[in-house]
Amino acid sequence: MDATALEMDNISIQFPGVLAVDSATLSVRKGEVRAIVGENGAGKSTLMKILSGVHKAGSYSGEIRLDGQTVKLTGVADAEKSGITMVPQELNLIDELTVAENLMLNQMPGRAGVVNFQQLYRDAQAMLDDIGLDVSPTAKIKELGVAHKQMIVIGKALGNQVKVLILDEPTATLSDKESEILFEKIRELKRNGITCLYISHRLEEVLDLSDSITVMRDGKIITTKPVEEMDEQKIVSYMIGRDLENYFPETNRTPGEVVLTVNNYNVHDPKLPDRKLVDNASLELRAGEIVGVYGLVGAGRTELALGLLGAWPAATSGEVLIDGQPVQIPNPSEAIKAGLGYLPEDRKRQGIIELMSVSSNISISSIDRLCRLGVIDQGAEMEKNNQFVADLSIKTASLETAIKSLSGGNQQKCVLARLIAADTKVMLLDEPTQGVDIGAKTEVYVLLDKLAKAGKAILLISSDLPEVLGVSDRMLVMRQGRIVASLSPKETNRHQVLEYATLGYSTMEGDKKDG
Ligand SMILES: Nc1ncnc2c1ncn2[C@@H]1O[C@H](COP(=O)(O)OP(=O)(O)OP(=O)(O)O)[C@@H](O)[C@H]1O
Ligand SMILES: [Mg+2]
Repeated sequence: MDATALEMDNISIQFPGVLAVDSATLSVRKGEVRAIVGENGAGKSTLMKILSGVHKAGSYSGEIRLDGQTVKLTGVADAEKSGITMVPQELNLIDELTVAENLMLNQMPGRAGVVNFQQLYRDAQAMLDDIGLDVSPTAKIKELGVAHKQMIVIGKALGNQVKVLILDEPTATLSDKESEILFEKIRELKRNGITCLYISHRLEEVLDLSDSITVMRDGKIITTKPVEEMDEQKIVSYMIGRDLENYFPETNRTPGEVVLTVNNYNVHDPKLPDRKLVDNASLELRAGEIVGVYGLVGAGRTELALGLLGAWPAATSGEVLIDGQPVQIPNPSEAIKAGLGYLPEDRKRQGIIELMSVSSNISISSIDRLCRLGVIDQGAEMEKNNQFVADLSIKTASLETAIKSLSGGNQQKCVLARLIAADTKVMLLDEPTQGVDIGAKTEVYVLLDKLAKAGKAILLISSDLPEVLGVSDRMLVMRQGRIVASLSPKETNRHQVLEYATLGYSTMEGDKKDG
């Protein structure tokens, strides 16, 4: 058995109103892949931030030992020097710089302050090849989707000399194929004796990839077990302290009138007008119905939603009708007035307003509704937002807490609450349960069912196939910008959906294709 690489001994950290980590002790061997799981707000990210120097020595109690030596990390750079690197849950990339510049930020080739760009692009290309990522080193970060950005951050971490690599929900935004590339990389690192700690809400991959699993609840470590002794149900019951029944609520919905009609809709790449991001898409969405949209990353799902929202009016063509009336949405801020609400996929960039409170983040799109004679009715606002906090189990010290101090999954729930508060007829949800723990996911599904029953028309974009199959009345599969199938979740299965998503057709019987 390999030597112990890392020990965290009796670690605690207190924030105003929360003991975020409570006497946590854990020990990881060299070359071990350790998964860390737990509900939103359990303390996973905080514990890993302590290990990676984000929370510096002195801000917590307890001891960290690396290869048997006590370390007192004075910051992220110090941790990296000691060989501990963390890929954070919220990406840290500089939008205006190129892929190559972001990758090589701390190690720019060149002399006397003059960057050798040829060398830079060559080195960056080698790193991109290494992680199997097909993007140009000269592309700007802001031109990339979330999945690609995530891969860049991981590549950057691997570029440093790591002993302990920490990944905080690395696959939340990755497609299956991209996740597989990452897992291959982790297995290779393991063979080279690198220790990997990784946080994930995807229990299937946790069971597949890790050697051992640590479960956290309310800041405490509940148990650590070798993967052989765990299964999905056991993990969940350790996580939430009880068994989880009825993961997907029984649905009994009767769709009503068509609310949204999209005919022969195209979104052209704003930069390469010859390229279509969405290609001749047609769909109908009824009141009281949840339509799932599945596809691999890059299939055009987000582009479809953003196009409908008015993100690129000059680059779209085709017909969009709401309640049978043609609509032209000139920009996303007009979308809510037209009856279209959108939950963005990229929480950090398009979702939360970091400096504002939980309450303001929830109310911001529905402020008109809360105003009487131009003054916000604060009592009504409080009451409404407290209801959201209860319905979605948002873990926050108070409504006035700054949203940036909430855990990732709880921030996501606030963004969802904001969309619900805006009360639009049509709701376009892009990965609504991304980063949301398995118990809270069920709460989100119950809420979506309630909204649909109240007459909302919901388009659910998701990369979580069981979720799409479990929650939708109907589902569309997109591939390379096209809607290649419209299926009934009850009459299809994972295999068939994946065939459509990857090949564009199905070899199985009983397939129904239209759209
Ligand atoms: N900087 C901070 N200031 C105040 N409270 C914080 C801070 N960081 C974390 N917390 C609180 O500590 C608790 C644990 O948060 P943490 O981010 O570690 O959860 P998590 O397990 O990573 O959850 P998720 O799965 O949602 O990412 C939460 O209640 C959170 O609100
Ligand atoms: Mg977290």
